[in-house]
Amino acid sequence: MSALNKKTIEDIDVAGKKVLVRCDFNVPFNADGSISDPKRIKEALPTIKYLLSKGAKVILCSHLGRPKGEFNMKYSLAPVAEYLSKALGQEVKMAKDVIGDSAKSLAASLKDGEAMLIENVRFHKEEEKNDPEFSKQLASLAEIYVNDAFGTAHRAHASTAGVAQYLPAVCGYLIQKEISIMGGALENPKRPFVAILGGAKVSDKIGVINNLIDKVDTLIIGGGMAYTFYKAKGHTIGNSICEDDKVELAKEILAKAQAKGVNFLLPVDNRVADNYAADANYKDVPSDDIPDGWMGLDIGPETAKIYADAIKGAGTVVWNGPMGVSEWDNFAKGTIAVATAVADSGAISIIGGGDSAAAIEKLGFADKMTHISTGGGASLEFLEGLELPGIAALNDK
Ligand code: 3PG
Repeated sequence: MSALNKKTIEDIDVAGKKVLVRCDFNVPFNADGSISDPKRIKEALPTIKYLLSKGAKVILCSHLGRPKGEFNMKYSLAPVAEYLSKALGQEVKMAKDVIGDSAKSLAASLKDGEAMLIENVRFHKEEEKNDPEFSKQLASLAEIYVNDAFGTAHRAHASTAGVAQYLPAVCGYLIQKEISIMGGALENPKRPFVAILGGAKVSDKIGVINNLIDKVDTLIIGGGMAYTFYKAKGHTIGNSICEDDKVELAKEILAKAQAKGVNFLLPVDNRVADNYAADANYKDVPSDDIPDGWMGLDIGPETAKIYADAIKGAGTVVWNGPMGVSEWDNFAKGTIAVATAVADSGAISIIGGGDSAAAIEKLGFADKMTHISTGGGASLEFLEGLELPGIAALNDK
């Protein structure tokens, strides 16, 4: 789906129209209430600026966190309105509610080229239920609907999918960008195509593995899920994390990779720790010899070299999931080595959102990558080859 067959903001006349724009402003905060990583807001700016420049009346909406259907001001979007006002150089008015009097009267009073933000759509339980009545209420605020919330496109909620039934519905620039870069890599990758998958659980990545195994030349495995594969190969794994009920599945994946001639790389050594703590004692051991009482928390130095070599000549790299507990210095070396190799490879490098994006950013490699997705779950589902409801709901070209 690299060539998006959905209408975009450039396919519709927005001048003088009230446009409801669903963004993903689900951003992390510092303890002092300031926004700690505004990437998702920044990535929404091109669409918002375009609409304002065309004289639209822009009504922004988003969720923030999981407030469970109640008005809880801990999850208010007010700090986002403040951030947007500064970033756009014009006031973004903040409504006190979602579909109530405040939102309605602010929307009605908007002039061409002005913007406002309604409160967190998840303050209403109907949002996550994709309730038709709630969708209609949201739609009644505007004349056109734009979805640019790639990070929430895997959710079939009222503001991401339901509302599209009641208004002309098109996508914004961020969704276009995410789909064209990730879709392009999946459909027509520059080869060799290397996928790097990490993270704790095989079960979280099984869909991605199954989809990518048909497309990639090399599949590199790191993170906690490696230990389930070790068990499938009959290795002892000490206290390492393992999904026992996925061992058979791991065996099937290994067989499938072999049958397809995919270069399937598992770590050959690991950094193991005597407990799950940042300051745990640690040592590097061969992967088929993890001692009792120890748990693997990173790939080892030999593996880091092998993985770097496999990445060196890549044409395309897709990476989702760190190689170890990368938030702890003693167990971040594998992820750093792989990030360095990806950065130096000259390949088209695509990083899935969520934990992988956070790790890459924290380790200082963000500007070396071609694309870091704003979607965690959404990018994973996209890489699984699944249809995203927030995109499916939009009008076809
Ligand atoms: C995310 O952070 O992945 C998106 O904003 C979706 O949030 P959710 O997992 O709470 O639906």
